[in-house]
Amino acid sequence: CGIVGYIGHRDAYPIILKGLQRLEYRGYDSAGIALWDGSEIQLCKTKGKVEELKQKCESSATIKGNIGIGHTRWATHGVPNDVNSHPHYSNSGDLVIIHNGIIENYDPLKQELTKRGYTFKSDTDTEVLVNLIEDVKKNEKVKLGKAVQIALNQTVGAYAIAVFDRKKPNEIVVARLGSPLALGVGEDEFFIASDASPFIEFTKNAIYLEDGQMAVVRNHKDLKIWKIKDDSLVAPYIQELQLNLEQIEKGGYDHFMLKEIYEQPDAISDTYRGRMLVNENLIRMAGIDDNIEKFLNAKRIIIVACGTSWHAGLVAEYIFEDIARIPVEVEYASEFRYRNPIINKDDVVIAISQSGETADTMAAINLAKENGAFVFGVCNVVGSSISRETHAGAYTHAGPEIGVASTKAFTTQITVLTLIALRLAKQKGVLSNSQFNEHLRELEQIPEKVKKALESNEHIEVVASKYKDAKNFLYLGRGFNFPVALEGALKLKEISYIHAEGYPAAEMKHGPIALIDSQMPVVVIATRKGHYDKVVSNIEEIKSREGKIIGIVTEGDVEVRKRADYVIEVPETLESLTPLLTTIPLQLLSYHIAVMLDKNVDQPRNLAKSVTVE
Ligand code: G6P
Repeated sequence: CGIVGYIGHRDAYPIILKGLQRLEYRGYDSAGIALWDGSEIQLCKTKGKVEELKQKCESSATIKGNIGIGHTRWATHGVPNDVNSHPHYSNSGDLVIIHNGIIENYDPLKQELTKRGYTFKSDTDTEVLVNLIEDVKKNEKVKLGKAVQIALNQTVGAYAIAVFDRKKPNEIVVARLGSPLALGVGEDEFFIASDASPFIEFTKNAIYLEDGQMAVVRNHKDLKIWKIKDDSLVAPYIQELQLNLEQIEKGGYDHFMLKEIYEQPDAISDTYRGRMLVNENLIRMAGIDDNIEKFLNAKRIIIVACGTSWHAGLVAEYIFEDIARIPVEVEYASEFRYRNPIINKDDVVIAISQSGETADTMAAINLAKENGAFVFGVCNVVGSSISRETHAGAYTHAGPEIGVASTKAFTTQITVLTLIALRLAKQKGVLSNSQFNEHLRELEQIPEKVKKALESNEHIEVVASKYKDAKNFLYLGRGFNFPVALEGALKLKEISYIHAEGYPAAEMKHGPIALIDSQMPVVVIATRKGHYDKVVSNIEEIKSREGKIIGIVTEGDVEVRKRADYVIEVPETLESLTPLLTTIPLQLLSYHIAVMLDKNVDQPRNLAKSVTVE
């Protein structure tokens, strides 16, 4: 979870809202804000993302005030819904709290409080805690800070909390044990947050509370820090933040790209969640279900895209033709738009775009629409131009991708396109029920297998250090993994500025083989299920010309290992799903080479994340 708070002279709502958006990487099941408007506490909370909270707050309650707290949640106790979202009130409505962490002994505490007449609206441990604080405050007749301290000494667990009292709305009490909590110290104002990103633009002065410490911050006044276990005061240690906003938001990773590479297990499961019902042997996708006739009647599918999205389109070509038996053409949007292409009324055009803003892709869509085709969008950015301009679509749900070199957008695009192919295959009856189910079960395993593939990170770093000074790289793959070879080469080019080419392994003999010598590393995707023997023969051809071989292989591989300089293993899966795994080591390889060469990984020269010019 992420927590934010503010007390001072500014309008608290925009600070808290923006802070929550920055902390959304910490969880986004639900979100909420409580503000003191001068006479009452205004509470606004909702299931869903901070964007939904924004809409709800701005359409209803008074959202003004100089004191407030906010929370974005990753559910631990109780399902994500409006009631379980934070902030939580105490029974009297006097106290309001946000909490990141888990109160492990909440159950006996809840029973005790229930006996004393307290009631609970939510299933959360947090509501127990705020009522415990209220109970202490009433019975012991102590101030809020002291009440929080006594209550926390009765709890077992982890927390970062912020709480305030509507009867004394000039202070916020915070405490930390096991969950992070930073205080931003401005002039006559204080900020509270899980990390410094919500206040970095207001102040560089931060105090990081240590475990077992609590503090009270007062309006226009001072702050006091002391230990939760006893009353011993702690002298505030103010650090000057060296970080800029961008660095802070990386959630502990050195670069957005690495963070996004590591987000892929979750991103892929977010993509299929709710759409793939394994036990019911069903795929449900509104954009496809509502237009199923269009897809079934299509003589062919034309995929238009640019860059990495175009590579996802190429993988999809193999998947659609293999699984759903529908002819597919994949086009660079920039070529398609100017080629006087033949577009028929019964063509389905799928436009793939992470940003949903790419000008060439947009132009290709308009051309297809003018010619009467049905256009379906696969976008990541919700509400983007392409998602609005297409007749229907499916989002990838990968979350924001900041690194210019696309990673999680690619694997989630492949995931969505696989779901579409499977959905159509089932409707057409070209896959048996058991084959269909086998695909669903395997797809469900992919996030775990991606995690496994990520475990090779350190080994990949070694491989990177060995070849980082090469001037050229060749990437080879066949079948489903031919587009992965293209994508691997693109990743290396984009961020390390090393020339790299991707090729279908068998085409090597028609040209690139002339380049191979002892200075040329060749990355060969040679998984067990994709024309393995043929690829092993290609490897022999490279070896006899002294090329250096980095094999991307299936776990337990023997034959490639015998011949390669290095192998990087990925788990076994269905052949059509291997791109989701073989892509991972190629992303990491290019990442480490770029870092070792001291390049700007997240913002490579001359490139942009979203290209809105043609
Ligand atoms: C730019 C980005 C690439 C991306 C391409 C297509 O070139 O740098 O990473 O693949 O645009 O972008 P789109 O948003 O349409 O997927």
